[in-house]
Amino acid sequence: MDKDRIIALLNQDLGDEHGAIIQYLTHAYAMGEGEMACEIEATAREEMRHLDWLAETIVELGGVPSLKRGKMRMSGESVAKWMGNDVLLEEGAINQYKEHIELIDDPKIKRVLKRILSDEESHHGDFQHFVDKAEREGAKDIRGNRMDRVVQTLNWGIEHEYTVILQYLFQSYMTTNKEVKKELEDQAINEMQHLGWLAEKLVNISGNPRIEHTEVDQSTKVADMLRADIKIEQEVADEYDRAAKETADPDLKKLLLRLRDHEIYHADVFSALLKEEERQG
Ligand SMILES: [Fe+2]
Ligand SMILES: [Fe+2]
Ligand SMILES: [Fe+2]
Repeated sequence: MDKDRIIALLNQDLGDEHGAIIQYLTHAYAMGEGEMACEIEATAREEMRHLDWLAETIVELGGVPSLKRGKMRMSGESVAKWMGNDVLLEEGAINQYKEHIELIDDPKIKRVLKRILSDEESHHGDFQHFVDKAEREGAKDIRGNRMDRVVQTLNWGIEHEYTVILQYLFQSYMTTNKEVKKELEDQAINEMQHLGWLAEKLVNISGNPRIEHTEVDQSTKVADMLRADIKIEQEVADEYDRAAKETADPDLKKLLLRLRDHEIYHADVFSALLKEEERQG
């Protein structure tokens, strides 16, 4: 099989991992705190590792990791139904990985896909168990439909965080500068935490987190990447600062100021890297 075809298959897997992550996180956040939500979040983290392995493999082959999110199954009125959707998603993944393992000859890629497949088989069993557990325990969707400025601000934050997670991951895969790659990975992980904090806060105040993103900067030159990142970090730091001043809720204020300080730190890290790059370039 030629490289382009392998890249296309791996990008299909990558998009599906991306869809799985968002589907599982949406479910975990909507259930609030609890053992099952924690386990589902941990599963989403395993899918993130899969996404990472697939993206690195695609880059090794000379390809570009796709940012397209695969199909998600977001319907269902009860937690048990959601868990049923997660079982179906894993079934789809298992079949597709088996197919791709058959099709691809490269032993290293086969090995990675087999490793991922074994995780998906284990997730499949976990979700089957969660269908029963959700029914038995009467697990509930605790999201509300509050729609005011606070909810808008938090959803705006989620949209921003999701966008930069994709942007920093994409850039980290595309750059050959080791120091820049490491910082981008670190900041992407920090932005994932931010997304989680915002979504949890939103659910706690009876809102409904919407996990969508805006346009992702896909510069391939390091200096261009960093300039785009600094700009977005400065914008979001200003916005969190503004929102913190506006709110009367002390917990929300604390959260927003903490986020603001992290974003200022990110902007500083990227600025230092840009200086270094400009000096060398
Ligand atoms: Fe996966
Ligand atoms: Fe952030
Ligand atoms: Fe940031």
